Amino acid sequence: MKKIAIVTGASSGLGKDFVRQLDRKYELDEIWMIARRKEKMKKLAHSLKNSKGVVIGADLSRREEINKVINKLNDEKPRVLFLVNSAGFGKIGSFIELGLDEQLDMIDLNIKALTAMTYNVLPYMSKGSKIIQIASSAAFLPQPGFNIYSATKAYVFHFSKALGIELKNKGIGVLAVCPGPVKTEFFKVASSKGKPLDWKSKFMVQSKDVVAQALKDSEQNKMESVYGVTMKLFKIVSRIIPHRMILKMFKWN
Ligand SMILES: NC(=O)c1ccc[n+]([C@@H]2O[C@H](COP(=O)([O-])OP(=O)(O)OC[C@H]3O[C@@H](n4cnc5c(N)ncnc54)[C@H](OP(=O)(O)O)[C@@H]3O)[C@@H](O)[C@H]2O)c1
Repeated sequence: MKKIAIVTGASSGLGKDFVRQLDRKYELDEIWMIARRKEKMKKLAHSLKNSKGVVIGADLSRREEINKVINKLNDEKPRVLFLVNSAGFGKIGSFIELGLDEQLDMIDLNIKALTAMTYNVLPYMSKGSKIIQIASSAAFLPQPGFNIYSATKAYVFHFSKALGIELKNKGIGVLAVCPGPVKTEFFKVASSKGKPLDWKSKFMVQSKDVVAQALKDSEQNKMESVYGVTMKLFKIVSRIIPHRMILKMFKWN
């Protein structure tokens, strides 16, 4: 039975770095890469040293496109060692300013697609397999001006931690990765200005470092991965200080 990893959002940012680091660190026959931009993933596939890169072009916000992955799993019946759910996007703007469609699209991709991928891949996982869910530090606190996005990430955070407990006796690990601002294409999509708010820019970190930490934390069977001292402090603050007080301290938009 071939051993594989599945990475969504593999065409850029964190997903792309997960593909590179999984290829370097683990013995995998194939890495299945899923996103909409196939050309970018084909280039990445060619650059892999150890595993075969398998490109699956799919818009995961559409239920029928998720079936492409499910059908391939059913046909090939591999053993999935890693599932990394990195596909996701956020839109900056208040609930009223942003259109309803793009806010529902965020829910479709960040919540529904991640849940469907997890559900459908699980039957192909066994003891020692790892699910790595990309949540966000936005999960720790409601964020005015990033409202629906932070709410979707709170879902990912809670879902992943509860799933980790449910799967403990099967020996399948579930990690919720909670980065602060990371240098990727994320803010090109998130903001019409193409960059994060000024105070967020100050805390920007490199994608490869977040991924290296996440893989280490996953190996150690941790439930959460928070990269960097600033975000670790942010998590503690968001747990001890009432949210209403923190929300008053920041300029949110
Ligand atoms: N960057 C940050 O500051 C930050 C912080 C915390 C959490 N995160 C989370 O990290 C994850 C990865 O984001 P990133 O920072 O790496 O941003 P990114 O560079 O924009 O990558 C997003 C990935 O998601 C894929 N994607 C978007 N819509 C899709 C769709 N409908 N179907 C399939 N794939 C889709 C994109 O591929 P295609 O466009 O080719 O489809 C791309 O590969 C996201 O879940 C994000 O919420 C990011």
